[in-house]
Amino acid sequence: MPLSFARSAALLDHRAAYGTISRLLHWALAALILWQLLGMTLRALLGRTPLVSFFVGTHQQVGTVIFVLVVARVIWMLAMRNRRPAHGAGLLGWMAKAGHAALYLAMVLVPLVAILRAAGSTRGFAPFGFPVFAPRETDIGWMKTLGDSLHGELGWVLAALIGGHVLMVGVHEILWRDGTLSRMVSRRRARNL
Ligand code: HEM
Ligand code: HEM
Repeated sequence: MPLSFARSAALLDHRAAYGTISRLLHWALAALILWQLLGMTLRALLGRTPLVSFFVGTHQQVGTVIFVLVVARVIWMLAMRNRRPAHGAGLLGWMAKAGHAALYLAMVLVPLVAILRAAGSTRGFAPFGFPVFAPRETDIGWMKTLGDSLHGELGWVLAALIGGHVLMVGVHEILWRDGTLSRMVSRRRARNL
């Protein structure tokens, strides 16, 4: 059936544009990560207020959803690696690839070290009330140290990487006008189908 073939092909990435699954994962994760960073920025600026408590109250759950989606995204990125839009040759292409790799690394590590810290803690880890790791009698030292020393710091590094990423998208759109944004927004617009 040509129609359903076209529909399922639209789910996959293409040299000219990202497919529906990559785009859904990209924008859902962008919204959820920005939610986390907004909450933690308000906490740093305002201290304990009812608004900040609301964000802090959602932080573990939203972070866990992010971790699950990031694992799905890494698997999908590897499956699509030979079909994705290329980043061009030369230094600029290399920098785009390195920037995306850094974003992936930070997206994996930030929630991972927080979940490890919770897994080895006396409070346990039960996102959405679902017990994943039972509370321990004493903290596991290295898990706590890893989380305490890396989670927040890498969270701010991720924020800086996102800032650079959005800045570069702006450069592509305003200066170079090469349609980079449209390949993550709409396959139809990118390929003019
Ligand atoms: C939390 C925020 C964000 C993260 C973590 C993030 C991460 C990424 C990553 C890893 C890629 C590489 C392709 C992939 O594997 O999906 C990418 C591509 C892209 N992102 Fe983002 N992104 C974020 C927010 C944004 C925002 C706000 C915009 C729009 C201004 C944007 C526009 C794009 C575009 C246009 C591409 C395609 C670039 C290309 O093909 O060279 N992203 N993003
Ligand atoms: C991508 C997802 C996440 C992002 C971007 C993120 C980001 C952050 C940031 C920026 C801070 C503030 C650090 C500071 O005050 O300097 C923070 C704190 C915190 N986060 Fe997350 N987080 C994420 C996921 C998680 C998860 C999954 C958990 C729990 C399992 C968690 C638990 C905590 C806790 C307990 C704190 C307060 C203690 C600390 O600063 O380490 N976070 N997070």
